[in-house]
Amino acid sequence: MNTRKLIFDTDPGVDDAMALMLLARSAEVELLGVSTVFGNGSLDTTTRNARVLAELLNLRAGVHRGAAASLDGAPHNPPAQVHGRDALGDAGLADGPARAESAQPADEFIVETLRAHPGEVSLLAVGPLTNLARALRRAPDIAGLAREVVIMGGAFGFRGQGGNVTPFAEANIHADPRAADEVFAARWPVTVVGLDVTHRVVMDSAYLDALARDAGGLGRVIRDISRLYQDFYRGTGVPDGFYVHDASAVACWLQPALFRTVRAPLAVDLEGEAFGRTRLLDETAPRPAQAVCEAVDAEKVLALYAQRLRA
Ligand code: BDR
Ligand code: CA
Repeated sequence: MNTRKLIFDTDPGVDDAMALMLLARSAEVELLGVSTVFGNGSLDTTTRNARVLAELLNLRAGVHRGAAASLDGAPHNPPAQVHGRDALGDAGLADGPARAESAQPADEFIVETLRAHPGEVSLLAVGPLTNLARALRRAPDIAGLAREVVIMGGAFGFRGQGGNVTPFAEANIHADPRAADEVFAARWPVTVVGLDVTHRVVMDSAYLDALARDAGGLGRVIRDISRLYQDFYRGTGVPDGFYVHDASAVACWLQPALFRTVRAPLAVDLEGEAFGRTRLLDETAPRPAQAVCEAVDAEKVLALYAQRLRA
């Protein structure tokens, strides 16, 4: 089988953990490394969680510690009400055995890996984009070396979709808008999987119970770590289940035909009321056009996830 090289940049996080499980269960993925960033927890928490997941999933990839704060050093309050105090749903998993972390920091790892395999490595980023922006600042040549960049983040107003931390901004972009703006402006091919599509993909109780029944130990882990996450979403008006953010970005990288995209130069609002909002720019803007997801075949994304986890 032809494999596809990947670096997974993440802030685990309940849905990040579920996304990494999908990658680990997909035979076509050659996971070269997991890089961590602050976000759903402090950097210590998300890195610890990545190490626990690497052990649980028996990953060969190393865990590389990344940014503890945004490019601008803005204070960040981890959303314990969404992902739990331990950022893995306060279900005990985070206290489990953990791999040692790599001595190589995330931005250096990203630069060296892209240079070692020009044109071959994809970046899949499902947290604040600080590590990618730091790698770009350190080595602007990497924009010409990445095969593609797929990110989970943003909300572009398709069918009226707004943000989830403010009426305008989605959490990953809001945590470091400047980093996202620099990633969008770089001359590498970016695909953005935002709330416009992730809010269409819902795992409900019946789906999660079936995973717990049919997907072995991992299915049961997902059921356990996602209970608090599901409670949070119930409070936001999702009657049964939760939105599938980060695993939808994995699905988009694995099977782009499940998503419909539009192309436009992109920018992020860096100040004012709309701080952290992602926007499509006019085609004359002096930035490369990037791809933004506007629609998704949600049933097929859910089927892909269940099929890979059951295998
Ligand atoms: C994004 O924010 C985080 O809470 C999730 O892990 C996901 O990456 C959704 O807005
Ligand atoms: Ca995430």
